[in-house]
Amino acid sequence: MKIKVAESAGFCFGVDRAVQTVCRLLDEGKQVCTLGPIIHNPQTLSRFEQRGVKIVNSPAEVPEGATLVVRSHGVSEDTLDEIAERGIECCNATCLFVQKIQNIVAHASKDGKTVLVAGDAEHPEIKGIIGHCSGRCLVFKNADELRGIIDRETVRPEEPVCVVSQTTFSVNEWENCLEIIKRVYTNAAVFDTICNATAIRQSEAAELSRQCDAMIIIGGKQSSNTAKLFELCKKNCAAYLVESADELPLSALSRAGCIGITAGASTPASIIKEVLDTMSEINQGAGPKENTTEGSFE
Ligand code: F3S
Repeated sequence: MKIKVAESAGFCFGVDRAVQTVCRLLDEGKQVCTLGPIIHNPQTLSRFEQRGVKIVNSPAEVPEGATLVVRSHGVSEDTLDEIAERGIECCNATCLFVQKIQNIVAHASKDGKTVLVAGDAEHPEIKGIIGHCSGRCLVFKNADELRGIIDRETVRPEEPVCVVSQTTFSVNEWENCLEIIKRVYTNAAVFDTICNATAIRQSEAAELSRQCDAMIIIGGKQSSNTAKLFELCKKNCAAYLVESADELPLSALSRAGCIGITAGASTPASIIKEVLDTMSEINQGAGPKENTTEGSFE
């Protein structure tokens, strides 16, 4: 059995920064609250819970004296204002790439443009982005929904529009949507705001899944970027989404000749290593076959 690990698997810059922020505050002896779960990884969350980190749903729930961490997804302008008005000590760990989108849409709104956002309207990152628009803002999750907006003429072709995408939006779907936008809104200001880490992770996962019989995608079941990796991979081979090594479908995997492993942006290196170790053990127990592992996680 051959095992290949994607180089891009694991924590991205923004998630790493948010997690490090919480760790630093805990080391400084602070009482820490996070606005929503800091990361889509149950193991990391339970480790933080043991160290006293409290997850709150709004600034109103932050106990006196606690430090609030805004996670990498970011929040709306109103929420930032509320945090300041309540005098809460705050560490804003909004990813710099998400902040960039928030700034783009804030400026576009002020200029009177209608903002079109490619993404999942229910995702916290998108809710935060919408919350930085002072004018009209519409969200579409794919080319069909975009066509719907155009067909219903809710945004007319002559209107000035600004288009951005969720940082974890599918690269393929973005290209489909862009084709339509360029045709209909000839003066659109288009910003490709898919995060580079996401684009690289997706293309590497797609390529690996074409080379392998099975793919293991490690990540939280609530993680949007992990779900996209899973969707991409299952087009090319058998794909299994697991949160930890315990969930590996061992008998199905033992029949595969070549297995690829990738992981979402919120997956700690320790869990990737655990999965890799389990797979290597199966491989060794499987008899005198080729036993090659490409890539490593320490
Ligand atoms: Fe930021 Fe990209 Fe990660 S937007 S949070 S570095 S996936």
